[in-house]
Amino acid sequence: MNVLTATKASGRVRVSDLQPEQANFAEEVAAGLRQPQKTIPPKFFYDARGSQLFEAICETPEYYPTRTESAILQQRAGEVSELVGAGVQLIEIGSGNSQKVRLLLDALKPASYMPLDISRDHLVHAADAMSRDYPWLDVHAVCVDYMQPTFALLPRSALRKLAFFPGSTIGNFEPHEALAFLRRLRGLVAPGGAVLIGVDLKKDAGILNRAYNDASGVTARFNLNLLARINRELGADFDLAHFEHDAFYNEGIGRIEMHLVSTRVQNVCVGGERYSFERGETIHTENSYKYSVAQFQVLGEAAGFNEVRTWTDVNQLFSLHYLAGPEPE
Ligand code: AVJ
Repeated sequence: MNVLTATKASGRVRVSDLQPEQANFAEEVAAGLRQPQKTIPPKFFYDARGSQLFEAICETPEYYPTRTESAILQQRAGEVSELVGAGVQLIEIGSGNSQKVRLLLDALKPASYMPLDISRDHLVHAADAMSRDYPWLDVHAVCVDYMQPTFALLPRSALRKLAFFPGSTIGNFEPHEALAFLRRLRGLVAPGGAVLIGVDLKKDAGILNRAYNDASGVTARFNLNLLARINRELGADFDLAHFEHDAFYNEGIGRIEMHLVSTRVQNVCVGGERYSFERGETIHTENSYKYSVAQFQVLGEAAGFNEVRTWTDVNQLFSLHYLAGPEPE
């Protein structure tokens, strides 16, 4: 792995770069499009436009996860802070616009905040805003693809750690990868730290299908923007008029699947390579696994956490889990 580490001050925050994202983009898209079931990892949704569209998704009436999780966080911030204690280093995995973490800050009073995100401009912008709004908080942003095994390279601190992984982004992993990721998070926060993670729950398929097929079509634009980004950044010629958004709850597997469907036979050039599409053939762009509370608790315990606390909203739409321990001897 080619790792660049650079730290510099941007406005009032420190910013470290652990990875050049561009190189991976071309390689990972090519590798995905060569598969029999074409696929592109969802982490590439979040260019500037994609991040904007994602924020718009969170405001649609159908997409309940964001507002439900925010309400749980607001209600439970005090309890979280009693469990983990004050003065921690708060590490946010995939921080995006850093809005949810604000719900924790007043109760938690962390000593420092380390947002991690793959989208550098978005990360720096959000980190600057955080440090402006919370002048007492030490902010150190790290641009990193946390799907890659780069946690070991994070700047070190002697503070007790709370890793915050909201939004049910863990649902993008296959369950066995989610388990491996939780183990790595346990390593990241050891000894004595904890993980606070938001997980979307299994529920009525109608609610789930509507959440990923909002009537205003924002999710469709978010999905299709991936092709626009590939066109722009990788010199490709996807015709967006001939691909369609498709999202559905696969109840047997317990996940939402998002695809881009080719509406006709066509060829597309990406980075000098040609890919052919049948009519109806898809690019699989995202999985979003849903868990029952019990399933996720089992996963947390299998990852080696022995203290698991769970909070949900009254409608059991979304869950927030606090995973800790074991304490060092
Ligand atoms: C950010 C991965 C949690 O799976 O619900 C929202 C992304 N995709 N609508 C999700 C998403 C389509 C979201 N995560």
